[in-house]
Amino acid sequence: VPAQPSPGISFDEELPAQDVNAQDLTAQYPRALAPITVGTMRLDHRIVVSPHGGGNGQLMGSEKEFEQHCAHWLEKVRGGIQWIGGGPTFVKNPGLPVGFEVTGVGGHGPGIFRQASFATRLGMFVDRVHAAGGLLSTQMVLQGGMPIAPSNTFSGYGDQRMPHALDLDEIRALIIEYGESAAIAADAGVDAIEIHANHDDIVQWFLSPLTNHRTDIYGGDRNARMRLLREVIVAIRDRVSRPITFGLRLCLDEMIDGGYDINELCEMVKLFTADGGTDYFSFDVGNNWGAPSYIPPGWYEDHPWSKLSAQAKAATHLPCVYAGRVTTVAQADAIIANGEADLVAMTRAAMADPLLLKKVRTGQRVRPCIGLNECIHRKLVEGLPYACGVNPRFAREADPLPQPTSKARRILIIGGGPAGTELAAQCAERGHRVSLWERSEQLGGALRVAALARANNRYTQWIDWQTDRLKHLGVEVQTGRLADVDVIRTFESDVVAIATGAQSRRLSIPGVNQAHVVVAADVLTGAASIGERVLLVAEDDGPAPLSIADHLAGLGHEVTLAYRTAGPAPLIGKYSVGAMLARLDENGVIMLPTTRITSIEGHRVLGAHSYSNRSFEIGTFDSVVLSVGAIPDDSLFRALKDSQPNVYLLGDAYAPRRMVFATRQAYELAQTL
Ligand SMILES: Cc1cc2nc3c(=O)[nH]c(=O)nc-3n(C[C@H](O)[C@H](O)[C@H](O)COP(=O)(O)O)c2cc1C
Repeated sequence: VPAQPSPGISFDEELPAQDVNAQDLTAQYPRALAPITVGTMRLDHRIVVSPHGGGNGQLMGSEKEFEQHCAHWLEKVRGGIQWIGGGPTFVKNPGLPVGFEVTGVGGHGPGIFRQASFATRLGMFVDRVHAAGGLLSTQMVLQGGMPIAPSNTFSGYGDQRMPHALDLDEIRALIIEYGESAAIAADAGVDAIEIHANHDDIVQWFLSPLTNHRTDIYGGDRNARMRLLREVIVAIRDRVSRPITFGLRLCLDEMIDGGYDINELCEMVKLFTADGGTDYFSFDVGNNWGAPSYIPPGWYEDHPWSKLSAQAKAATHLPCVYAGRVTTVAQADAIIANGEADLVAMTRAAMADPLLLKKVRTGQRVRPCIGLNECIHRKLVEGLPYACGVNPRFAREADPLPQPTSKARRILIIGGGPAGTELAAQCAERGHRVSLWERSEQLGGALRVAALARANNRYTQWIDWQTDRLKHLGVEVQTGRLADVDVIRTFESDVVAIATGAQSRRLSIPGVNQAHVVVAADVLTGAASIGERVLLVAEDDGPAPLSIADHLAGLGHEVTLAYRTAGPAPLIGKYSVGAMLARLDENGVIMLPTTRITSIEGHRVLGAHSYSNRSFEIGTFDSVVLSVGAIPDDSLFRALKDSQPNVYLLGDAYAPRRMVFATRQAYELAQTL
């Protein structure tokens, strides 16, 4: 088979050589791509990647983990971003009693700064960043409540492990620890030191009236609550000998009863500015328990808090960074034009496409972040490696790039959802000749149906991008084409991949076949219509039932959402689920956990408690909508398996999972073909 007409270097992973600098579209974004000075750093544009964990690398891990850490961040520099925040660097808790076990996300006892080879590793990393043309900050992190705090209190409603209240000796030791630790990082050559004074850090716990109930010099009025951070800044400035940029990352508004609001934040910003010592502020909103989320999922509006950032920016003459759901450089440009910030973080956007800035400058389409938040939840909820639903190479940047194939093959893919399209693109990028048949008129599969729910409308951005990508790669796409065994055999491809997805599941309980009992997909597509009072039955651990409930509530239905599990959506982590539940509550959705549907008698629905089996009447509803998962559609695979060589099954057609599983499986499979 002749190789696919060469796409040059892959559209996806590499900039086609001929396009680099072919046209410079910088002028389209005059603010975002204008230079700025932040402290000692001269930047040639204003898009940044704020500090973040994840990425499957470790600064202080094994050689392999260190290489992955560097590769993960250097990929963003290669993609044109200059100032990178690096991973969180944990400050030692100097007073931790021997044997006490620290728990909680981001909790750390011994910290990272004091580890023997920290300076060497950081020095190696920073040298590589500088050699690539980047600038690096070190973010100093010490999570509040894990286990230390200003007072014996909680910071939110989700984590109720009582912390240890620091005494004055412990506070003094902590301040010294910040100064000494910053000096180690500065000596290693970093360009900036940032204090993580947000996201429930111990520093924020001192700033906030919610968590700081002290009656000594570190608690009380605004000045007293700011004292710890002020003394930390002085300690850092005293200990760090060379000129360096110093910044504060602050929550714009705690948005929680008893916390501080934007007005209070502005007053603190004025005082920190007047103190001197600080070179920039980095602003966002959100906490560690979930609502609002500081990793806002796609359910949020784009850049939901940039207006608050404008208020904070007006309180200081220092440069301000805004972070929170900015996904395009055009948005960043507008935020700067509106005076809402001087620099803009595009953190998950750069996870979805680390080459975004170079692509924007050369007029190429950027792979969009659609806010699935797999970059955080897969690891936190399921313990799986960090991953991105749209970018299968995310968090494995140190792995060898996919190589052009030495043996171009003819590959037929049946099914144009995330698994099928990703496999098609990956195979075409390697130089195979690829045909893809999709039975419906458009690509996207189940994701296109899910995108009909209002919370998921961003999914279409990825489907459009993926459709363009296949076109660019010369994949022969046929939509409206139904495949059967005979036609597949006649096609004589070397490889057949079956990515035919899954069909909505129904329940087998009495009464389920009545006309007013419908599956959620049919409601979204308009194939089924429903009445005012709706019982939504959730037997799906992912986001689907929540987004359908939100959609129906948005259309004015009275929605009751019944889950068999103890809580909703057990596979959706706290950075997403809090915001989702907030919106459902605001829209009047009634939640029934631990509730199993047992029968539908006309409009009367009966159920049982999932654990005790006690039966009861759930209520009377005009319609029952089933969001109960899907059954793999693997019939083609089963029919071909024994007679056709090289036939593969992937995606939901093997076992329905979230999109990230489909795209990653497709990527892996493509490397073997
Ligand atoms: C996996 C992950 C880990 C993060 N870890 C940190 C962190 O350690 N420190 C921090 O200040 N922010 C952290 N963040 C928040 C980001 O810096 C950023 O504020 C957030 O992703 C919102 O910006 P975005 O919408 O541009 O992604 C993390 C975000 C993600 C996705």
